[in-house]
Amino acid sequence: MQTVLITGANRGLGLEFSRQYAQAGWQVIAACRNPNQAEALSELARQYPLIKIEALDVADLSQIDALAAKLSDHKIDVLLNNAGVYGDKSGHGFGQLDYQSWANTLAINVLAPVKLAEAFLPNLQRADQPLIVALSCLMGSISDNTSGGSILYRSSKAGLNAALKSLSIDLRPSAVGVLILHPGWVRTDMGGPNGLIDVEESVSGMRTVIDHFKLTETGRFFKYDGVALPW
Ligand SMILES: NC(=O)c1ccc[n+]([C@@H]2O[C@H](COP(=O)([O-])OP(=O)(O)OC[C@H]3O[C@@H](n4cnc5c(N)ncnc54)[C@H](OP(=O)(O)O)[C@@H]3O)[C@@H](O)[C@H]2O)c1
Repeated sequence: MQTVLITGANRGLGLEFSRQYAQAGWQVIAACRNPNQAEALSELARQYPLIKIEALDVADLSQIDALAAKLSDHKIDVLLNNAGVYGDKSGHGFGQLDYQSWANTLAINVLAPVKLAEAFLPNLQRADQPLIVALSCLMGSISDNTSGGSILYRSSKAGLNAALKSLSIDLRPSAVGVLILHPGWVRTDMGGPNGLIDVEESVSGMRTVIDHFKLTETGRFFKYDGVALPW
């Protein structure tokens, strides 16, 4: 049986990934900050016993190590780094930047996915075709940035892309793949009500890209529909 570990699995894209992978018969390790408050995810886990909920605040590196130790005998086929924050707030643009919020955004969006990859590498190496996926964003593309602003979020996703590109090269000899995905502009708490697509369309597109992944594509940046994106 294939296993996926999903961070931020309690709402938005993470919840939909959990639903679709469980429906497809995968074992889902659904990690979220506050399992006690994760009502939608708990309801999903009652419906699909293949979903196992684990507590994980990805900003706390010791929690990542503790979860990896707890799951040390598990094979993980896909490590899905979904948890993320936007960080930028209105009134806190250039001139009034909130540096604590920036550090927190970098911790969640950049440091955590790399730390998760380090901690869960032994689990991935038990799989036939192991894959690390990170949910990035087109807003992290430097060449696509024509409107400025969103310094916290843009820099975090650009940093994530740079770190994961290096990881893809470093892990190539061990045949562990790395895929960087832009989910589209999706109607979630982060994307807001004006997003162009819903979670079902975004996640089913990304699952197709993940399913068709070949190691020759490691370290590349794709949109949810499989279109390659510029750095
Ligand atoms: N929606 C879009 O249009 C869009 C576009 C491009 C990229 N993305 C990326 O897609 C990913 C998912 O976005 P979304 O739209 O589903 O966002 P969302 O609805 O705001 O959900 C964010 C998820 O991340 C979790 N999270 C945040 N900080 C965490 C932490 N420290 N530890 C563990 N979990 C944490 C949240 O958990 P809590 O409930 O505990 O806060 C929540 O489950 C993000 O990486 C985002 O940057 C989204």
